[in-house]
Amino acid sequence: MVLKDVFKRPLLDLRISVTDRCNMRCRYCMPREHFDNNHTYLPKSDILSFEEIVHVVESLLPSGLRKVRLTGGEPLIRKDLHKLIQQLRALSPELDIALTTNAHLLSNSIELLKQAGISRITVSLDAVDTDVYQAMGDTTSTPDTILDSIDKSLALGIPVKVNTVVQKGINEHQIIPLITQMSSRDVPIRFIEYMDVGATNSWNLDHVVTGKEMRTLIEKEFGTIQSIEPDHPSDVAREYTTRSGSVIGFIESISNPFCGDCSRARLSANGSIFTCLFATKGFDIRGILRMDASKKEISKAISSIWSQRKDRYSETRSEKTDSERIEMSFIGG
Ligand code: GTP
Ligand code: 5AD
Ligand code: SF4
Ligand code: SF4
Repeated sequence: MVLKDVFKRPLLDLRISVTDRCNMRCRYCMPREHFDNNHTYLPKSDILSFEEIVHVVESLLPSGLRKVRLTGGEPLIRKDLHKLIQQLRALSPELDIALTTNAHLLSNSIELLKQAGISRITVSLDAVDTDVYQAMGDTTSTPDTILDSIDKSLALGIPVKVNTVVQKGINEHQIIPLITQMSSRDVPIRFIEYMDVGATNSWNLDHVVTGKEMRTLIEKEFGTIQSIEPDHPSDVAREYTTRSGSVIGFIESISNPFCGDCSRARLSANGSIFTCLFATKGFDIRGILRMDASKKEISKAISSIWSQRKDRYSETRSEKTDSERIEMSFIGG
């Protein structure tokens, strides 16, 4: 039976954070002054094992789960991630298994991920200009390394999408060069409005470039863009094509929220279920997992959490001034 929340939204997607650590320090996500040597990351014993994660996914398959997305922090930091993918693939040949990554470690693991049965990869890339990329990500890595990893994935036949967070005055001028780079590879790119997630990034509405503003900028360069029907009502990106067929998406959590069909649950690395990206608390399921709960018992626990879900934060954000929110690197983007 499909699990439905208070607003009749089904649980179709599970975003699984496999680690709260990252090898980048994007200013909008893990600013170094907060995520320095004094920051306490989860101890290893708190983090779900691959077997525990697989048990959760398996328990949700009968109720209609169709997609899992491995995320973090940076998921490729987790040792032997391909073994988790292998185990998830063994559950079902149809399950959509996606990975969100900054791609720093992708080149070395891509073949193993492919053999393990990954469905597709989403790469975060905020600029093609080296200085802008390094400033936003507070990193010494270069965009060329990321583009090479994208090419390597495509060469292996793995579908790739690119995600770009846009911050006013920082990287709007990268929108056109990024589209040009991705069009030539036939890779869809999605521009994300800078969100007020977490409590460390000093978010401010003045730093947001809206999807509408981005489209105006894009149409000046490429002419009118045409909107495309979403594959699924719960898709976060609103997609358009240029006249030459490039696919460009906009994730407009600030100016055009998409909570109405939100079918996403998040599983944090330490085994809590969060029913919204902006939730202030999760529901622990590691406890019952470690008491050898059966698939039925896990499913029942998640069903009871989901059935009480009323989240629609992006639609109500103007009513709130919450600073207790969990960081995106912890809850999983
Ligand atoms: P597809 O499966 O390819 O459709 O990917 P997706 O769009 O579900 O996932 P992706 O990781 O590419 O999401 C892109 C970005 O959208 C995330 O990194 C977040 O910034 C944002 N996002 C994803 N899900 C949510 C959500 O439920 N709420 C909000 N507000 N933002 C979200
Ligand atoms: N606003 C919008 N997107 C964000 N991401 C991380 N923090 C934010 C934020 N504050 C994005 C990353 C990555 C994905 C995991 O989430 O760029 O693409
Ligand atoms: Fe790491 Fe992704 Fe956050 Fe950047 S956005 S710090 S790559 S988790
Ligand atoms: Fe879903 Fe919460 Fe995002 Fe709305 S804000 S789309 S309810 S995760």
